[in-house]
Amino acid sequence: MYVNYMSMVDFGQLSIPRNKLGKPPRSANATPLIATPQKIDSSHVPDLFTPLTAGALSLDNRIVMAPLTRTRASDDGVATDVMVEHYAQRASLGLIISEGTFPSPAGKGFLGQPGLVTPEQLAGWKRVTDAVHAEGGVMVAQVMHAGRASHPDISGLPTEAPSALAIDGETRTAAGKVAYPVPRELTLDELPGIVDAFVTGSQNAVDVAGFDGVELHAANGYLLHEFLGATSNIRTDSYGGSPENRIRLVVEVATAVAARIGAGRVGIRISPERNIQSLIEDDRDDVIAVYGALMDALAPLGLAFVSILHPSPESDFVQDLRARFGGPFLVNNGFSDATTRDEAVALMADDLADAIVVGRAAIANPDLLRRWREDLGQNALVPATIYADGALGYTDYPAHGEAQTEQN
Ligand SMILES: Cc1cc2nc3c(=O)[nH]c(=O)nc-3n(C[C@H](O)[C@H](O)[C@H](O)COP(=O)(O)O)c2cc1C
Repeated sequence: MYVNYMSMVDFGQLSIPRNKLGKPPRSANATPLIATPQKIDSSHVPDLFTPLTAGALSLDNRIVMAPLTRTRASDDGVATDVMVEHYAQRASLGLIISEGTFPSPAGKGFLGQPGLVTPEQLAGWKRVTDAVHAEGGVMVAQVMHAGRASHPDISGLPTEAPSALAIDGETRTAAGKVAYPVPRELTLDELPGIVDAFVTGSQNAVDVAGFDGVELHAANGYLLHEFLGATSNIRTDSYGGSPENRIRLVVEVATAVAARIGAGRVGIRISPERNIQSLIEDDRDDVIAVYGALMDALAPLGLAFVSILHPSPESDFVQDLRARFGGPFLVNNGFSDATTRDEAVALMADDLADAIVVGRAAIANPDLLRRWREDLGQNALVPATIYADGALGYTDYPAHGEAQTEQN
């Protein structure tokens, strides 16, 4: 199965104007809620290669493997042998965040996506986490309900979302590319079931599948993000409208999962202004209100981390979110171009993050920690094999000093 990765949903079309650095322009009326943080003496700032304690998670270094959907699971959503090898190869990174995994059948968003539902799926993940732990790694499961980005031909169930608004575009089913469906609007009395799915999935991830914790996926246009977004959530009940209402489900999920597995094992991913999957966040004032309220509501929970995907970590907006959350703040600034070593080093030196989340460079470099620590250079990503079958482009990227394979 060859799929152009640029066509996959996490890398959909950006619809906001971009300057030549690939960053969205600052809104003229943006009103930072705190002043730009003062530059601090960088000799006291931890660098990429120092440990970090994030709640109950002890990271040996501050390079975090981003959640990366790779569609290598079986049709039943069970992790395969190559997944065991792939993740174990990358165990030297301070923390591995798994690809998005579905906590309920309706939450499945991709063919070849692994789940956290059946005993077989949990046993499959246990093989992965055992292998990662044997290599000294730390790994959390990204718990992801795809919301309106799913399709009945993928999940076998009606597609569910905050509002009956379809994504403009196509997804890939076994029959090929098809338009995203108009989702069913979740009723008020169904929302506790969504919270329960995240809680049960997270508990199973930790208790049965052996993960060290979870990352709640509230980013990139999937269900939790859809509740946050003004263009995807047009509900008129207590889960729509005001910022307080739009953050309600996300806060309920985070609170309930933290209560069940311990806040120190729970992180959450957000991607304000990602502008993906028809979820457009181009009103800076609204974005500040929603994500500011979200950070204020999450702060007292004592979560392990917030992970943010945003092109401008240095902005007042992002640093204000960091200050409001007050705990470990993981940053991924990759958008059009993959995160580079120099960017990661600079983000840490400028004290803009507590750890750096790295996607495409981690795909192409199983020994990314050593390569970046010793500045050894790195393998180039081969986009054509991102969603290939099996080992190709997955477990066959060479470590430094190993022979390059034909595919790479
Ligand atoms: C192949 C691929 C799959 C991805 N899958 C996920 C995913 O499952 N969950 C998620 O939150 N982000 C996902 N992303 C986004 C990455 O986590 C990351 O934010 C993005 O690659 C930008 O970082 P980079 O510039 O270091 O690659 C994916 C990105 C790529 C390239």
